[in-house]
Amino acid sequence: MLKDMILKELIESGDEAVSGQFVAEKYGVSRNAVWKAVNSLKAEGYVISSATNKGYRLVSDNNILSEQAIRACLKGDCRDMPVYVYDSIDSTNNEAKRLLADSSESGHMLIAAEEQQKGRGRYGKSFYSPKGSGVYMSVVFKLSEIIREPKNFTTKAAVAVIRAVKNITGTKLSVKGINDIYYNGKKTGGILTEAVSDLETGRIEHVIAGIGINLVTDSFPEEIKNRAISLNEPALSKNKLIAQIVNEIMPLYGVGDDESYMSEYEGYLM
Ligand code: BTN
Repeated sequence: MLKDMILKELIESGDEAVSGQFVAEKYGVSRNAVWKAVNSLKAEGYVISSATNKGYRLVSDNNILSEQAIRACLKGDCRDMPVYVYDSIDSTNNEAKRLLADSSESGHMLIAAEEQQKGRGRYGKSFYSPKGSGVYMSVVFKLSEIIREPKNFTTKAAVAVIRAVKNITGTKLSVKGINDIYYNGKKTGGILTEAVSDLETGRIEHVIAGIGINLVTDSFPEEIKNRAISLNEPALSKNKLIAQIVNEIMPLYGVGDDESYMSEYEGYLM
């Protein structure tokens, strides 16, 4: 769809304006068609400025989770991954398992949601996932070899999250007990890694790295309110952060049992 292509151009050009003429020529459409597509993006909540002789600029994606906006920030091979985005879901990890079980998908994929009604943490605990307040995502990785150290998937996910947040916001996070992401001495996120194995071979076929990060959650349930914290980054685009985490995680997962990232991980330990 033209609208999606224009969104991609706007995201990729960052602070630079994109000329209507350029887009019209690139996609073989009229400038009026470009104008209409920009207006429908605005109607979806994207804030787009337009200046005569300069063109269009994406001021803010209004933090609406969207497949196109995530995909536009994915790099290299990650660009081809199926991306599923939901307004509301029980748990992105549960959805990953359903997609694998009903054979809709069998390779790498990404699932993200604006809210989770039954966000899960480790040991049967819940992960508080209110609407529009955080990143709730699952990266599904299809294994091509037998893995000796499954816990590396969790530590690699932690490294990916910490790198992505540092790159985008400059904020330095830490990790505690391999699964918990900390900010200013309190928990700001968590990782729940699950494996899906083939019943016949007993082999782990897929790893699901479920990642939750509190971005702007302002009140937490009583039982966690003294231990939980938000990154407090209202301007941070969830789409960009999710894509950046995927861009970091996939190369780490792709090298199997290689542990050269370990010294970096140890530097993040609390
Ligand atoms: C923990 O704190 O113990 C781990 C929390 C993991 C939360 C994420 S949010 C996305 C994914 N879906 C879930 O249901 N859980 C993980």
